[in-house]
This record gives sequence, C-alpha cells and structure tokens, in this order.
Amino acid sequence: MSAEHASNMSDLPELPASSTEARKQHAEISERIRSYNEAYHVNDDPLVSDATYDALFNRLIELESHYPTLKKNSPTQDVGAAPAEGFAKVKHARPMLSLGNAFSREDIVDFLARIRRFLNLTAHSPVEVVGEPKIDGLSLSLRYENRKLVTAATRGDGSEGEDVTANVAHIDDIPKTLPDDAPDVVEIRGEVYMARSAFQKLNATQAETGGKTFANPRNAAAGSLRQLDPSISAKRPLRFFAYSFGELSESLAQTQWDFLHKVEGWGFVTNPLTRLLHDADDIIAFYDELGTQRPDLDYDIDGIVYKVNDFELQLRLGFVSRSPRWAIAHKFPAEKARTRLNAIEVQVGRTGALTPVARLEPVTVGGVVVSNATLHNRDEIERLGVRVGDMVVIQRAGDVIPQVVEVIRDERPEDTTEYQFPDTCPKCGSHAMREEGEAVTRCTGGLICPAQAVERLKHFVSRNAFDIDGLGAKNVEAFFELGWLKSPGDIFRLESDHGDAIRKLEGWGDKSAAKLFDGVNERRTIGLDRFIYALGIRQIGQATAKLLARHYGSLGEWRSAMVAANEADSEALRELINIDQIGPGVAKDLIEFMAEDHNREVLDDLQDLLTITDVEAPTVSDNPVNGKTVVFTGKLELFSRNEAKVKAESLGAKVAGSVSAKTDYLVAGPGAGSKLKKAEELGVTVLDEQGWLDLIAAE
Ligand code: IVH
Repeated sequence: MSAEHASNMSDLPELPASSTEARKQHAEISERIRSYNEAYHVNDDPLVSDATYDALFNRLIELESHYPTLKKNSPTQDVGAAPAEGFAKVKHARPMLSLGNAFSREDIVDFLARIRRFLNLTAHSPVEVVGEPKIDGLSLSLRYENRKLVTAATRGDGSEGEDVTANVAHIDDIPKTLPDDAPDVVEIRGEVYMARSAFQKLNATQAETGGKTFANPRNAAAGSLRQLDPSISAKRPLRFFAYSFGELSESLAQTQWDFLHKVEGWGFVTNPLTRLLHDADDIIAFYDELGTQRPDLDYDIDGIVYKVNDFELQLRLGFVSRSPRWAIAHKFPAEKARTRLNAIEVQVGRTGALTPVARLEPVTVGGVVVSNATLHNRDEIERLGVRVGDMVVIQRAGDVIPQVVEVIRDERPEDTTEYQFPDTCPKCGSHAMREEGEAVTRCTGGLICPAQAVERLKHFVSRNAFDIDGLGAKNVEAFFELGWLKSPGDIFRLESDHGDAIRKLEGWGDKSAAKLFDGVNERRTIGLDRFIYALGIRQIGQATAKLLARHYGSLGEWRSAMVAANEADSEALRELINIDQIGPGVAKDLIEFMAEDHNREVLDDLQDLLTITDVEAPTVSDNPVNGKTVVFTGKLELFSRNEAKVKAESLGAKVAGSVSAKTDYLVAGPGAGSKLKKAEELGVTVLDEQGWLDLIAAE
C-alpha cells in the first residue's frame, strides 16, 4: 500500500473541529484500518483500494500530529501497516531465499538421504551439517564495499528489500567497517532480533509513556527496524546474529563452520549454540537438547537450521525453486490455541476445488490474531468429526495457514448437528463431484461458475504471475461484478473500455486509476514462464511452468506442441512426457487445457495484447551444451542422475528420458543397454561420464 493523497477520496470525513470529535474519528478510522489490515495481510484479500486505505491512514497520522496521545494503540504504530512514505528499495545482488521445513525425525532422515542420493553417495557416507538455532526475527543483508558498510536491506520479497541502512547504525552487533583482510565486496546475512528481556522492558516503558506495545519480540524487532525515523530505531535494543552471506568478491571459507568463525573474527556475533553434527542421531539429540533449553533462552527460536557444512557440496546441491537443497529448517512444535468454531464456509478455488474454511471466534496464537483456519477437505471434516459450535484446537506454524487440529468433544454444546458437506457448488449450484483417488471435491460448473472465473483472474494477477500493482484480489472481484473483467485480456482493456468509469468509482480518482493503469501497462511485456503459470492450468505450478518455458522457448512453439500432443502416439506427446518431471497426468491437463476452444481464444486475445518474451538463457550461450538435448543412461557413478540433470539444465541443455533423432548427446554409464544401442544406430554422440564432465568443463 503506497502513499496517495486524500484529495480525491469521497468517503473521507471532514477534519474534526474539537478534540472529542478527533478522538471519535480516530477510533472509527482505526477500526476500519484494522479490519483492512487483517484482510490485506492475513487473508491476502484487500477490502478497499490502496488509495482509500492510504487516505484513511494519512488522516490518522494527521489527527495524531494534532493530538499526539491518539498514537497510543493506533494502527499507525503497527508492524505491517505500511508507512505513509516508504523506504527506498534495494535489489539484492543474490536473492534471499527461504528454507524447506522438517517436522520429524523422518523428515531429517529424508533430508540426508536426498542429499546423498543427489550427490551419488552411499547410504552411510558421512554428511557433516552445521546446526544453528533458527532465530525468530527478521533477516537482514549487510553489504560492505571496500570494507565499509554501505547498505542494510530487509529481505522483502527475496529479490528486493527495503533500505534500512540508517536504522542499523546503532546496532552494536553490526560492525560498520571490516578489517583489512576482508574482500572488497562482502554481503553478510543474518537475523535481527530483540532479546526477550529487552522486549519486556520496552513494552513496560511503552505502556508507561503511552506508546504502542508489541505482541512478541519478533514484531517488536520488525517494528523497531522498520521505523522511518532512524532516531526511534536507535533507541530500540536490537541485536544481530550473522549466519550466511550473499555476494562476495572472494571466497571466505570452504565450510559454513569456518565461515562463522571467520566473520566472528571480524566482529560479528554468531550464535554460541551452533554445533557441528554428523548424522541423524546427532541431529535429533541436538534438537531435543535445544528444545529443552528453548524456554530459558533470552531470545525466541522457532526451530533449528541444518546446513551442509562443505561449500563445494552446497554448490553441487544447488536449489529447488526458492530453497536450497543443502539446508532445512527443523521446526519446533507449532503453537496452539482453543477457540469456538462459529461457522464453516466452503470456498471455491480457481480449479473448482471446494475448500471448507473454519470461521472462528478470534484468538491470539503466537502473537497473531486468527479468525479463519482451513479444514482442508471433506475427509478432514469427517476425520475430526467437527461441528459448527464446537470448541476446537487450532494450530499455527510459521507462515502456514492456521488449521483446525482437534475437537474438544467434552465441551460440545447440546444443539449441534453433524456437518453436511455440500453436494453442489455454493457459488453456482452446479453438481460438486469427487473423482476417484482424489481428496478434493470439485464444482463441475467450469466456465459458468463465477467463483472459478474470478479465482482464475485473481491467480492471473497474483504475485508470482502477472503481479499487477494496484490490481489486488478485491479490485478483481469488484471489476468482475461490474462485468468489466470476464477474461484475462479484459485487464489490458480496462483503461480504454472503462477508464472514465473507474475514475468515477467510489474510492477511486484520477490518481489511483492512473496508478492502476500504469501497473497494468508495466506488465504488457512478460516472460513466458510467468505467462504459462498465470494461465492457472491444473497442476502447473511455477516450477513446471518454468520447465515448459525453457523447453519450448517461445509461446508459439509451446502452443503448437500442446495442440500436436493431443494426438496419441505423436512425436509431440512423446517429447512432452519425455521432459523430466512431466508425467502423463500433467501432460493430460496441459493437453486438455489447450484442446478447449475457450482457452485458445484467451491465448489469442492475450497474444494480441501482450509481448511474451522467451525465457532468458540461464547461462552463457557459448557453452557447448546450451540448447542441446542430452540423455543420461546406465549406472552413473561420478554423479547422480538428478545432479547431472540439474547441471545440464543450468547450462541451457534439455534433458530427455529417451533417445530419438533429436538427441545430441547420450551420456552412458556402465551397464547402458537399449538406449546406447539406439544412440549408436542413430549416430548420436555417446560420452562416458568423464567425457561429459570434460565437455561441460570446457565452457
Ligand atoms: S539460512 C538459503 N540460517 O529463517 C538459506 N536462516 O526460513 C537462508 N533464519 O529468512 C537462510 N535463523 O530469516 C538461515 N541460522 C539461520 C537462521 C535463518 C533464522 C530465518 C531467516 C530466513 C528464514 C528461512
């Protein structure tokens, strides 16, 4: 939510003349802002346009500037409520990624097994990991150039964060200069946090002086760091643990363990409980030990992060979408709370899936107020035996959507009845069906179901798809209801077809409308991978969309291949299924999508309106395998099939599962059979494993 001015806001009340009036107006607007905050941040479902929000928010600030006592408990002091003017943005030189989660011993054993498999190590080869307490704060990237701190940036969305350099000046744990032996460019990453004792003290002082109190140390740390006025940050006792790095002009160490010691020597603080661990037993013992210590620590931790110690192995392991293969977060049990289930509402998703959502008596879980939780599906409701009116236990783990985990049977009111899952779609009345082997019940209404249509549009504009600024879920719904948005192409005709009407809508004005149209125009050029993902085809997530974009290169190629693949036994179908990770199920969904007239019309329309760019070649184009098709076969000994595949793809090669005339290289390990024979017949270049390594090293 960015800054806008109130001048064009029709629903903004007059400035009050007396302090009583001001108090009343402040209370009313605060309440509205809080409900909008919840809708935006918790439900990801804004209730008003950014402009309206900003106008109201600015009015609060204005009132507070006349009557400072109104600041106490005002939403203007809340974390997550965007400031009237924002921070400058900082693009991270290396993205700040997230971690996959583990919850059990089994997950840890799997994590180690995956690593061994990927690296082609035997089941018992040692894999050393560093275990670090997972600090519940907010991550920060510190960039040093020529040994001087130049920028401190929050994580933001991982590729772009906020510039908080001025606000870290007083954090003693953050060195402002590095010693002479440090390289010219160094980015150190870690967690900013507030100690529990400091948090309690801060809250006590805040309460005394009429300032805002915080729900937990994490919020206090975030609120303190993200202060537009650095003099306020300076007074807040923030601390910092270093645990990782971004861009480096020279390598600092060969292992995570040595890295931590190195930066400690530079004046950073690393967590003293960090430990070198050797196997699953070691890991579990450390987890149990830390779990016992957890209540006595002076800072909040929500788990332990395990990282493969050896950087060379980390490099080989690489990343799966946005998380490293070489690290995992082992979470401590989720926080739970009891509350009343007031209603069950069934929501309809873009693929027609009916999801039951529990509407709850609001309750605080780990510092966050929760009023909705997922009940997943029909089976889950039956398993829990949950009824409207029941007391339930909900749990919230990190960023995961809260869920109902238990029903307190002893406290069931007398007048409850068994819950009947609907047989029809609550939005369009079509029959709701559950396919064999599927957990989800789906609305069969397809195109006639408005809920599906609107959800598809919301998906189309969502963050990982078109990511259109100023066109959030709420606006999509509003424009859909007005009949201005029916299909994705309509988004790009909003200005020409409904520009004047939008400018006159309640809560809108020239400025907010211009912002929306700018946001739309900025996305008239889009990468093929985002484009495919935005179409919302069943089973096609970001990773698969990327795979398809890379494989087919251009929209035209991809489209015609999906049409051609509709022919059983066609070369196009074989090629599609041959793409690693695309099985017959995914292929079927793609083909069915493209076989629908309506979907092809949507594509034609979008092709007229947009420039869809080919996916950037992932690496230098002059490496010898870029654009080539490679098949791996036989028992590979120097690397695992998966590692080989990931590496080949990172160099721009396509990895196929079977040999055809299109194959450029067959890499054959010992025991290769029919594929080798076929390659020889077709005259395909055959390499052994070392030959492959030599070839890709020659880039
Ligand atoms: S490493 C690519 N180490 O956890 C790996 N993260 O879920 C990047 N965190 O955003 C993170 N303590 O805010 C790492 N010792 C630690 C951590 C840690 C806390 C947080 C961090 C990150 C999130 C990832």
